[in-house]
Amino acid sequence: MCGIVGYLGAKEKKEILLDGLKELEYRGYDSAGIAVIEGVNLNSFKAVGKLENLVRKAKDFKADSFGVAIGHTRWATHGKPTELNAHPHLGKKSYVVHNGIIENYQELKKELISEGVEFLSQTDTEVIVHLFEKYNSELNEPFEAFKKTIERLDGAYATLLITKDAPDTIFFAKHGSPMLIGFDGDDVYFASSDTAIIGKADKVYYLEDGEYGYAKSGEVKLFNSKGEKSFTTKPLDGDKLSAQKDGYRFFMEKEIYEQSRVIVDTMMGRVLDSEVTLEEVNESFFEGIDSIKICACGTSYHSALATSYLFERMAKIRCDVEIASEFRYKEPLLDKSTLFITISQSGETADTLEALKMAKRAGLKSLTICNVDNSSIVRESDVALLTRAGIEKGVASTKAFATQTMLLWILAIYIAQLRGTLDRETIQKEIEAMRHSPTVLKVTDELHSKIHRLSKRYLHGHGFFFIGRDIFYPLALEGALKLKEISYLHAEGYPAGEMKHGPIALADSNLFTIALMPKTLLYDKIKSNVEELSARDATILAISPEPFDLADDFIQTKQAIHPMLEFFEMMVITQLLALEISIRLGNDVDMPRNLAKSVTVE
Ligand code: G6P
Repeated sequence: MCGIVGYLGAKEKKEILLDGLKELEYRGYDSAGIAVIEGVNLNSFKAVGKLENLVRKAKDFKADSFGVAIGHTRWATHGKPTELNAHPHLGKKSYVVHNGIIENYQELKKELISEGVEFLSQTDTEVIVHLFEKYNSELNEPFEAFKKTIERLDGAYATLLITKDAPDTIFFAKHGSPMLIGFDGDDVYFASSDTAIIGKADKVYYLEDGEYGYAKSGEVKLFNSKGEKSFTTKPLDGDKLSAQKDGYRFFMEKEIYEQSRVIVDTMMGRVLDSEVTLEEVNESFFEGIDSIKICACGTSYHSALATSYLFERMAKIRCDVEIASEFRYKEPLLDKSTLFITISQSGETADTLEALKMAKRAGLKSLTICNVDNSSIVRESDVALLTRAGIEKGVASTKAFATQTMLLWILAIYIAQLRGTLDRETIQKEIEAMRHSPTVLKVTDELHSKIHRLSKRYLHGHGFFFIGRDIFYPLALEGALKLKEISYLHAEGYPAGEMKHGPIALADSNLFTIALMPKTLLYDKIKSNVEELSARDATILAISPEPFDLADDFIQTKQAIHPMLEFFEMMVITQLLALEISIRLGNDVDMPRNLAKSVTVE
C-alpha cells in the first residue's frame, strides 16, 4: 500500500522524488519522506499527512549534484502515522524505505536491542537499516551486508537502501511487494509503480520476487537465489492516464480487479492466526455497550445492512441500520448503551457526518469505518478503523464496499470475542474464511469473458430485479445499485421472499431477474422463490454453485465453506455484469451522469 521512489543521477532529486510520490500518494497518505545522499552530505525530510506537508517542509532544499535519493509515501501498518514512524528510516549513516511487512521484525528487533541498538520508531521497517549497519560494520562491504540483511527478512518487502559508506549506490530488493527499475541514459530510477517515473525513464525492468542487487552510476547488477542474473528492459509507455489505469479500460474495472489485493491490506495485522484484533481501539471502549446502530448512505449503507446480520448472529448484539438522511429527521431515540457506527468511503458525506454529530450530542460512543484518514467523519469519531482500499476513482464504489464489508465482518468477530459468544472452533472457521476471501475475489479471464458475452442479452427489457435472502439481500441491493448507477437501466434489489408480495406482478420475459443463490445459506428457500418467478416467465440469470435447470443464463460459482465467501464471489460477478452492460451501452463508467464520488451536500 505504500509508495516508493528512488533515483540515482545528477538531476535535481527533490523534484524527481516528490513528482513520483505525488503519483503514488493514493496508495497511502499517512506521512511521506525523502532522503538524499550527495557525497558526504546526508539530508532527509519527513512530514505527517499528505504530501503537500512534505513539499512545504522541503521547499528550500535542492540536490542537483550527483547522488542517490529515496522517497516514500506511507500507509501505516505498524505504528501510528507519526513523523518518527515515517520513512525513510535512518540508522547511523544509512536510510531505508520499505513497502510490505517484515513478519519477523519483533524477533530481529529484540536481537538488535540486546546488542545495544536504539530504535526510534515502532515500525517493522527500521530493523532493515540497523541490521544492514550491523553487518556492514562487521564485513565492511555494503553489498554483502545488504545481502545478509535481506536473507534475514521474512514476509513481504520491496526496499531501497542508501548509505554514506557507498554514496553512489542504491541497494534494492523485492519479495512480495511491487518494484521496478527505470532507465534513462545513465540515470536510474526505482518505483513501486511505473506511474511514478513516466516521462522520466524510457526503459523499465519489473523486478521479480527474490531479486535484489544494486545500482551504481548507470550500472545495475541483479541477483536472485541462483546468483547474478541478466535482464532485459521494456520500453516505458509515456501515457500517464493509461498507466494509472494499468491497462484497464476504466478505473472501475481496475478497482474490481484490485479487490483481491486490497482485502489483504484490510486484514493485515487484524486477522491473526487464531483471533482478530483491532489495534485502533481498546477493549474498554466496548464496555457498557449493548446494541449497535449503523448509519450510512449508498453503497456504504449496503455494507452495513449485510453485516448487521453478522453482528446479531455472531456477536449476539442488537444491530439496527439506518440511511443517514432518514435518521437525521426522524427524531431518533438514542441510548448511551448504543455504539454508533458510521460507514463512509469518503469520510465527507454530509448526511452521515450530521448523523454522527447528532449521536455525539446525545452522548453515544462513535466508531467509523472509513477509507480516508483525516476526513471529517474520521476526525469527528471517537474511533476510526480505516478500510485501506486505496483511492477509489470510479464513482461507482467497488473495492471500498468490499473492504468495508470485510472490516465490519472483522469487527463483528472482534465483538463476538469480547462478548464470548463464539467458541474457539467457530472463530477459527471465521478466520479461515476471511483468509480465503482474496482467492474468491480474484477475477479470472474465463469469468470476465463469460460475463462480457452474457451482457449483450441484458441491454433492454423493462427492468432488473436482483434478489437474495439474508446477507445476499443487501448484496442484491448493491448489485442493483451498481447497475443503475452506471447503465441507467432500472434495477431493484429485493428480498427474494418478498417478491410474491407485489413485485412479482411485473414478471414477464422482459423482466430480468438476477438470482443470488448461495449454497451455504437458505438455498432451498431462494430456489423456491426463483421457481415462482420462472413460472411467470421472468428471464432468470442464476448465480450459484448448484446448476439450476430453470435458469435462462447461469454463472457457476465455487462451492464454499462460508457464506461470506459466496458473498464476495457473487459481489464480483454483479460488479462485472454492471460494468460490461454499461460499456456496451457506451456509457462513461467512471463518471456516470448526475453522480458524484463525495456528496458533501444534504
Ligand atoms: C455517493 C457515491 C456512492 C457512495 C455514497 C456514500 O453517492 O457515489 O458511491 O456509496 O455517496 O458515500 P460515502 O463516501 O459516505 O461512502
